[in-house]
Amino acid sequence: MVEGVGIDIVDVPRIRKSIEDYRELFTRRIFTDAEIDYCTRKPNPYQHFAARFAAKEAFSKATGTGWNSDFSWLEVEVINEQSGKPTLHFLGETARSVAKKKALLSLSHSGDYVTAVVIIES
Ligand SMILES: CC(C)(COP(=O)(O)OP(=O)(O)OC[C@H]1O[C@@H](n2cnc3c(N)ncnc32)[C@H](O)[C@@H]1OP(=O)(O)O)[C@@H](O)C(=O)NCCC(=O)NCCS
Repeated sequence: MVEGVGIDIVDVPRIRKSIEDYRELFTRRIFTDAEIDYCTRKPNPYQHFAARFAAKEAFSKATGTGWNSDFSWLEVEVINEQSGKPTLHFLGETARSVAKKKALLSLSHSGDYVTAVVIIES
């Protein structure tokens, strides 16, 4: 059964500015090691960082609570399968709160914008 859907759109230059201004202070607060590794191997890393930022926000919307103190950016991780398909992985308290649920993710990039859609199923 579908329990929730969340969508987010992110402006890539905004994420780029945060990364350029704050470097690891920003990236290490928001993205896991695996996400940083994935994005920095790409020709346009900012687009992929922005997509992961959108995925985390879309997940928070799909849960119905939005981003609040119950979530940590680092507890929601985007991992791509061999085919490129993105999947959501959860860690810590967030993993416990979604333990019996399934979360589906789709990402898209176009120019300065990226979008993410998350569906949560029970
Ligand atoms: C997958 C595909 C539809 C993406 O469409 P696109 O218009 O090129 O790119 P978009 O900006 O809309 O989407 C990019 C996102 O698609 C997602 N994606 C990539 N491969 C995917 C797949 N097999 N299934 C679902 N989603 C996929 C990723 O999340 C990617 O973003 P990320 O790298 O930041 O995680 C397109 O590349 C395609 O059909 N490829 C065919 C298979 C292929 O060429 N594979 C190459 C690797 S072997």
